[in-house]
Amino acid sequence: MRSALERLSEGLTLARGAVERGGGLAPRELAALAERHGAHPDQVARYAELLGSREEAEGMLGAREGDVMRTLRANTLRVDRDELASRLEAKGASVRPYRHTPYGLVVEESPIPLAAYHEHLLGLFYIQGPASMLPVLALSPEGASRIADAAAGVGGKATQISQHNPRSPVIALDVSERKLMALKANASRLGAFNIVAYLMDARGIGSLGEFDRVLLDAPCTGEGLMPFARGRRPRPQGEVESAARVQVELLESALRSLGPGGELVYSTCSTNFEENELVVHSVLEALEDSGAGHFSLVDTGLDFGDAGAVEYAGISLPSQFRLCRRFYPHRHATEGFTICRIRRS
Ligand SMILES: C[S@@+](CC[C@H](N)C(=O)[O-])C[C@H]1O[C@@H](n2cnc3c(N)ncnc32)[C@H](O)[C@@H]1O
Repeated sequence: MRSALERLSEGLTLARGAVERGGGLAPRELAALAERHGAHPDQVARYAELLGSREEAEGMLGAREGDVMRTLRANTLRVDRDELASRLEAKGASVRPYRHTPYGLVVEESPIPLAAYHEHLLGLFYIQGPASMLPVLALSPEGASRIADAAAGVGGKATQISQHNPRSPVIALDVSERKLMALKANASRLGAFNIVAYLMDARGIGSLGEFDRVLLDAPCTGEGLMPFARGRRPRPQGEVESAARVQVELLESALRSLGPGGELVYSTCSTNFEENELVVHSVLEALEDSGAGHFSLVDTGLDFGDAGAVEYAGISLPSQFRLCRRFYPHRHATEGFTICRIRRS
């Protein structure tokens, strides 16, 4: 019986081979694209391997901040989307509904930074990227009674969960004290009073009992944030591999903490196959083999995004992986993101 980490390692070896072969691009081409876009040649090779052509890889590398929708989430605990839109427009902003969500607004223009609006200070909205709003929609925590946000960070998604379900406890874990302090400040500003923050490694989530909804917005390379100056840096293959190893451990623990019929959403702000479908596949197979229960991918319920990848670097995954959703800056005008929803039967 092979562990999830052993399965992952086999996949990572195949992926490394494909990246070393340049994803089908010549070394000189890789180096030129990497230099032009502030990327690592491995990254260019990953995109060429994943997206299937030099043009697509360059489309992805070339995306910049202006290509991504600028969005915010109306805090429906305090205001509805239309009222918030009217208040912002009265102050000179131009906004429209972000139609893939019930509470998002796309900001076309704003005379001042979003964080400077009085409405922001009052907790009427949270500044959140267009793809970043989608994992909680896929989680659909309405009606759930025990919810965990296993890597809650500053609470962007934990406070969004409160909008869907303001009464049930949301157990928010993170290993960063600094982030949990920011989470508490955000929760208080937004009036999300059902969040309990624990400074804790989510690999120990099993000690907190069973959950019926778990969000694992996993620590990742952040490669999907390449369009933004703050996210643009070279990421060699070794960094992707290290992230994937941690992700496997977190996902395995988080899935084991689900009760029967429980659901987990796994998301990353990365479009790397190694950090997403490969991680999920390694863990699902290992859990199945170990008799830990039956887990299956289910539809995310999201109304846009590309299908999950089922072929990469000579690795073929079952067709159910197409149920995952992928978001690309140059195709969807979002951050790069991947979302998979898993149910325990
Ligand atoms: C992608 S960020 C989460 C962002 C957050 N969901 C939001 O929407 O604001 C991933 C988080 O995982 C945390 N993290 C890293 N290793 C962890 C671990 N072993 N257990 C729990 N959290 C961890 C990081 O500190 C980081 O805040």
